[in-house]
Amino acid sequence: MRTYIIEKTLDYKDFILVLDFGSQYSQIITRKIREIGVYALLCPYSLSIRNILSKKPKGIILSGGPFSVYEKNPPLISRNIFQLNIPILGICYGMQLISFLFGGEIEQSKYKEYGKSNFIIDCYNNDLFHGIPKKSIVWMSHFDEVKKLPKTLKVIGHTSSCSIAALIHEKKDIYAVQFHPEVSHTEFGISIMKNFILHICKCNLNWKLNHFVLDSIVKKIRKRVDSKKVILGFSGGIDSFVAAHIIHKAIGDSLHCIFVDTGLLLKKEKISFLCKKMNLFVKIIDAKKRFLSILTGITDPEMKRKIIGKEFISIFQKESEKIKDVEFLAQGTIYSDVIESSTSSSLIKSHHNVGGLPHLMKLKLLEPLKYLFKDEVRKIGKKLGIPKEILYRHPFPGPGLSIRILGEVNQKKISILKKAESILLQELKDYDLYESVSQAFIILLPIKSVGVMGDKRTYEYTAVLRVTNTEDFMTATFSHLPYNFLEKISNRIINEVDGINRLVYDITSKPPATIEWE
Ligand code: XMP
Repeated sequence: MRTYIIEKTLDYKDFILVLDFGSQYSQIITRKIREIGVYALLCPYSLSIRNILSKKPKGIILSGGPFSVYEKNPPLISRNIFQLNIPILGICYGMQLISFLFGGEIEQSKYKEYGKSNFIIDCYNNDLFHGIPKKSIVWMSHFDEVKKLPKTLKVIGHTSSCSIAALIHEKKDIYAVQFHPEVSHTEFGISIMKNFILHICKCNLNWKLNHFVLDSIVKKIRKRVDSKKVILGFSGGIDSFVAAHIIHKAIGDSLHCIFVDTGLLLKKEKISFLCKKMNLFVKIIDAKKRFLSILTGITDPEMKRKIIGKEFISIFQKESEKIKDVEFLAQGTIYSDVIESSTSSSLIKSHHNVGGLPHLMKLKLLEPLKYLFKDEVRKIGKKLGIPKEILYRHPFPGPGLSIRILGEVNQKKISILKKAESILLQELKDYDLYESVSQAFIILLPIKSVGVMGDKRTYEYTAVLRVTNTEDFMTATFSHLPYNFLEKISNRIINEVDGINRLVYDITSKPPATIEWE
């Protein structure tokens, strides 16, 4: 289950509403529209027609989803959506839904079509395919397909295994494609989306992260916080850094940043130095001993996350009691954190920075970046003059090294991992690879193997190198690193870090794996 920001929040005249039917790509549709330069919001498919109208979208996209229109209680929308005179584009399940609601027939395909397909345009008498070549590669991911269309809908494209792969309404601005234009594997996907957004919906390119957006965020914070105080859990990562900076711009010294040194961080962060440079005061709490002691004997990944989350709450609680008039807890939550936070039925990992905290602490949440995607936060950060070393820093998880030490965490393992990670970081920079990969780190496994060094037998830990490339951290591929780099990393770690005698490279994508191992 996703959570959504329903209110339009930023007042943009030209705006596209994406109705979410649960596809893994729904968030990507929204991000791509913003990348094109038009404001977009992802909302649940169940939004009422009145609510849709009140937002005044210039176009509506019906996303894909894992459902079949013929299953029991499929997610549906009211047919009245077609009477709004707002252009509509259906994608995958969205296309099947449009066909179904107009009286078409949908069936399970003989062959599941998953991956790249050759798409052929049958009809150019529409704006959707303006400038798109007759034949191109598209990304498919479906089990059902439209088999028969009512008179009002017309086929405009097919693939070898899907005879109705794109359609258009004869009279209304309603379009649909069975493939995913938002996925980068679809050769002309962005052009098709641009045709819909700019030509059919006639949106202007006015979603720019300029001073107007920045000022409106700052004003909103100032108005909401008024004369109260805010504490902010500062991690030193880009999201909390940008959040802190914007809030500081709005309310100055009423902001109290707290950085908890859990002892599970990478080498001494240059936090104080960077904050001083940005005129931010950050209180550093030394909680190394506390964290080590609460983790003793804990091996289960979810237990580690929960224990750490609880400890953060208790530290923030104590700190907030020391300051008069604290009413808000600020966090660097971004739009994808909001959308991806799930209920326990589909919980994969507990991220302690989403939800939970204020409820238990009776504080109100202040999350100024929750409307923005990561790349947008970077743009705002750049406008604020935040140093490049922060803006392009790889993400680091809240539970820190504890979830990169599989099994029990102890001081010895933390020291081993810190040493290995610092070698990795140094080499990535020396090989000029740091900015071309999205995240790189080492995992320490709780297994030992036999090796030989200087004619002597060794029996030490195995470590894993995990390096991935990703646009949004929801899907990722392992990075294709040069062999000479891999060789250098392996040599240096085995030679210089006592306790590791074997390094392996993780070549699993996400999905099916996740980026972190716990
Ligand atoms: P996974 O392992 O879920 O990670 O593929 C996706 C991204 O999220 C980071 N991550 C976290 N960040 N608190 C955070 O702030 C957490 O508990 C947490 N767990 C994972 C991970 O490093 C990757 O960038």
